[in-house]
Amino acid sequence: MFLREHWYVAAWAEEIGEAPVARVILGEPIVLFRKADGAPVALEDRCPHRNLPLSAGRRRGDALECGYHGMVFAADGVCTFVPNQAVPAWARVRAYPVVERDRWVFIWMGDPARADPARVPGYNHRFADPDWRVVNGKATVKGGYRLILDNLLDLSHLAYVHNSSTGNAAVAERAEIIFSTEGDRVRQVRFMRDIPPAPVFVDYAGYDANIDRWQTTLYMPPSYIFINNGTLRAGNARPDEAALRSQGSWGFEVYHAITPETEATSHQFWAVAHPAPFVAPEKLARFNVQMRNVIEEDRVVYEAQQRAIDRDPDAIGRDVNPRGTIEADQGLLAMRRVIRRLYGEEQKAAAG
Ligand code: FES
Ligand SMILES: [Fe+2]
Repeated sequence: MFLREHWYVAAWAEEIGEAPVARVILGEPIVLFRKADGAPVALEDRCPHRNLPLSAGRRRGDALECGYHGMVFAADGVCTFVPNQAVPAWARVRAYPVVERDRWVFIWMGDPARADPARVPGYNHRFADPDWRVVNGKATVKGGYRLILDNLLDLSHLAYVHNSSTGNAAVAERAEIIFSTEGDRVRQVRFMRDIPPAPVFVDYAGYDANIDRWQTTLYMPPSYIFINNGTLRAGNARPDEAALRSQGSWGFEVYHAITPETEATSHQFWAVAHPAPFVAPEKLARFNVQMRNVIEEDRVVYEAQQRAIDRDPDAIGRDVNPRGTIEADQGLLAMRRVIRRLYGEEQKAAAG
């Protein structure tokens, strides 16, 4: 089940250059490249002649030449050249609307007539902020996109999956959870009062005593997540809304864009950002490695989950057992309700 009438992240800006890049998004083969003026282009990656992916061909100016029989397709998908004959009317590939903003290249997977750049999620401006440090990457996950969103909507898992870095037992056992929805968005605040600091908070923030810690996760359809992490020395007043949006004395922001590749595989575009002074320059490389390790630790979990689902025919398409949920699943269940409702609306609009 994919939501189509949305902007998805197709690539980090630095992944796309002159050479064609092949990527499957929502089950559709797509080729990405940049024109001479730097503008990103996304075309259907399948020659309408004999099906060779255009990404296997070569650039001809701002166009792509098919590597099999030499048909040339311009950046708007229209064929401009067929060797030794006139261009037939059928010779074109789909061109996808693309927008580049703050290091993410977004692709519109729905009806191109409805591609409104004003709907591009504009929450990743930190990536271009010179006062912040960003470590980022792309993981290719052999797991469905909702398994990744689940993980990010239940951060109790830090206690079990990331206990060498961002988590410890108190994160799972001593959190007050404040859950809310606003339109299509799901928000989960976790506030932990007077808990021991997890390893990264000792290493980089220098805490030597208990802390108050908060995590705020925001899910935005179709599959964007923003998480703010903040801390203060224990004993301060309960953080108000403004404090929850800040990092307090030390913390970081986490960004995820989960773009389905297929029903059971995903592109995970991730970034961790922090105000520059929060990590000493000589410790930055180690911090970045730890953040990459966190992404990798989660990937191992998603892929094991997906294998278990694939092994059980009853679980396919039903990766949440309705009788097997716990209170911590509130956020992920709400996210699934949003996706199901939006999917129903898309199907209804398509039928009508
Ligand atoms: S397969 Fe592309 S030109 Fe023949
Ligand atoms: Fe995680």
